[in-house]
Amino acid sequence: MQKENWGTRLGFILAAAGSAIGLGTVWRLPYVAGEQGGGLFFFIFIALLLTVGTSLLLAEFVLGRSTKEGAIEAYRKVAPKGQWHWIGIIGMIAAFLLLSFYSVVGGWITTYFVRSFTGNVTSPPDGDHGALFESITSNPWEVGLAHLAFMIMTILVVQMGIKKGIEKASLYMMPALFIIFLILMVRSLTLDGAWEGVVYFLQPDFSAVSSETFLFALGQAFFSLSLGVSVMVTYSSYLDNKASLPGSAWSVVLLSVLIAFMAGLAIFPAIYAFGLQPDEGPSLIFVVIPAVFQQLAFGEAFFMIFMLLMLFATLTSAFSLIEIIVTPFVRGKEHLRKRVTWAVGLLIFAMGIPSNLSFGLLADFHIFGLTFFDAVDFLVSNILLPLGALLISLFVAYKMKPSIMQEELLRGSRFGKGFYFIWLIMIRVVVPLSIIVVFVSQLIQ
Ligand code: PFF
Repeated sequence: MQKENWGTRLGFILAAAGSAIGLGTVWRLPYVAGEQGGGLFFFIFIALLLTVGTSLLLAEFVLGRSTKEGAIEAYRKVAPKGQWHWIGIIGMIAAFLLLSFYSVVGGWITTYFVRSFTGNVTSPPDGDHGALFESITSNPWEVGLAHLAFMIMTILVVQMGIKKGIEKASLYMMPALFIIFLILMVRSLTLDGAWEGVVYFLQPDFSAVSSETFLFALGQAFFSLSLGVSVMVTYSSYLDNKASLPGSAWSVVLLSVLIAFMAGLAIFPAIYAFGLQPDEGPSLIFVVIPAVFQQLAFGEAFFMIFMLLMLFATLTSAFSLIEIIVTPFVRGKEHLRKRVTWAVGLLIFAMGIPSNLSFGLLADFHIFGLTFFDAVDFLVSNILLPLGALLISLFVAYKMKPSIMQEELLRGSRFGKGFYFIWLIMIRVVVPLSIIVVFVSQLIQ
């Protein structure tokens, strides 16, 4: 049993939404949607989030709260015999690797945020935003320091614990994130020519949709909700027994949808209003967005708060990625939390160094044709996360006692048995089948 708990249900929801809303939502989703048919991709993504995504999120919640244990012990408690706890270990490895490169991007954001005070990010001396991005990411000292600074910020919060650290930070950062997005969205939508961007983002382009679109959308839905890593198992293990799990899951999903929507409406109209193109890919927010802000009145200030928003989004996801690794070590030994968090955080930082250097010194070092950064991303996003998601859904669906699942799922909620049965079909059949389809087709490619 763990002693610590979330102070309030709101705190839990904001922390879980904080984990969900991260680079995947505010950075990857807009450019992938841009490449995959705009509006239609977005609607497919939301449909999958509300069905398959929510079902798996509920499965992680049911497992976490019923066992009150983190990534390893939760599986052991339900199935003491066998090797099921490896699902948790895979999740911990995935979280370790994911944060190792996630924090590199966190470092870029930190650098851009700090540099925005001097004004030379939106207006680089030679006017070339792409060259500036390259010169920053290939400078090992600057990005190395920023990478370290990002990890230290993460560690400083998580070492304070669930309630005083993660919950408290989320209670400030998530509403701030929401307000900043609102400001940026209004600014973007009121620019001349903004409508074209809204159309691009929301009008379905059927010709750009293929079976691949569904695969991308499903992968993105799982990634966006932080599923398959046992992060949501861990977070819900700190939740008291009264809170409704379906209610909490809906809140997390709806917040994620809302923010994804706002991200699109903040980014695309502004890009179009200034005659730029959104098909820049991953560097969208570091190359195209600064160019947009350059043309805006008070652009530097808007850019600064945009980077602050990105920083909050990235940090709240990073908290969850460290916490899943810390929880099993400090279970029943909270006094070890500080030491364990520093050790884990610094190890993740060290693991991230080659990813960081793969934009400069190690650019020519390739594994299966990919840079170190891309190889780790591939291993995590295309192999470990889908594998984890598949195993978690099968484990909950077939290893947990139905009476416990039903009791845990419905307690404190307005739903009845019918809801439980629909959910059961989802996690027994629909979720595993969809993951297998995505998994196999990605490996074949
Ligand atoms: N949900 C985060 C995002 O969209 O950026 C990424 C993530 C965080 C994935 C934590 C998995 C995880 F365990």
